[in-house]
Amino acid sequence: MSSKETSASSLELDPEKIPAHVAVIMDGNGRWARKRLLNRVKGHEQGAETVRRIVRACRELGIRVLTLYAFSTENWERPKAEITALMTLLKKFLESEKAELLENGIRLTTIGETERLPAGVQQALSDVRAATAHLTDMTLNLALSYGGRSELVRMARRVAEKAACGELSPEAVDQDLVADLLYTRGLPDPDLLIRTSGEMRISNFLLWQIAYAEIFVTDTLWPDFSREELIDILKQFQQRERRFGKIKPEDRA
Ligand code: IPE
Ligand code: IPE
Ligand code: MG
Repeated sequence: MSSKETSASSLELDPEKIPAHVAVIMDGNGRWARKRLLNRVKGHEQGAETVRRIVRACRELGIRVLTLYAFSTENWERPKAEITALMTLLKKFLESEKAELLENGIRLTTIGETERLPAGVQQALSDVRAATAHLTDMTLNLALSYGGRSELVRMARRVAEKAACGELSPEAVDQDLVADLLYTRGLPDPDLLIRTSGEMRISNFLLWQIAYAEIFVTDTLWPDFSREELIDILKQFQQRERRFGKIKPEDRA
């Protein structure tokens, strides 16, 4: 255990059952702002602070991969001013967090149609991705302009292209091949999916990858989400019995 990690057991967590991959639908920034009669952008600013806190907490708890849903393909349909504010915030976040990512051994990766992002954001992303590519303690994976359906369409196109040029036979299409053609190639599937702000839906997030993720929905709005609540969810996660469609050995006749 490195000095950056708190012992999971000191927090009453089983170190053997820390999820390898946690994915989060960070929802509720707008409601947080509305409750305070503030502009939605203030909610996003506060949400960025929560991102900093939660990345730190995950690093400390030994979570290997954290995927954050930051901007969906559908979010492009929001008012232009909100999109611009989100993009500015994202660029600032990347610039201000680069040093901390480097210092903490955190690699930055992205999933989604990042080619649709403004040039300045793309530049900041390439810079931080390249600077942190060699780091192995943790992966911070940002879902940006991400949609699960668009990811599946992109995969199907690649399969069709390979088949059309004779590179691939139908029998060779299996689950490993599909997983290899998704943005998440090389990452383990999420063990734990958290959604803040109480909505019981997936909103086009990681449709393939969450097949067996344990789902937790909390009413807490994302700007109010804390390390303590994350630890509490991890404790509940560790109590869940994951069966993956099988039955417990003691239930066998
Ligand atoms: C999540 O908060 C952030 C993004 C989707 C970019 P929202 O902006 O969706 O907040 P609510 O759902 O309106 O409260
Ligand atoms: C999901 O939240 C997308 C992100 C958190 C980036 P939304 O606020 O966009 O989802 P809906 O509209 O409630 O389904
Ligand atoms: Mg929302």
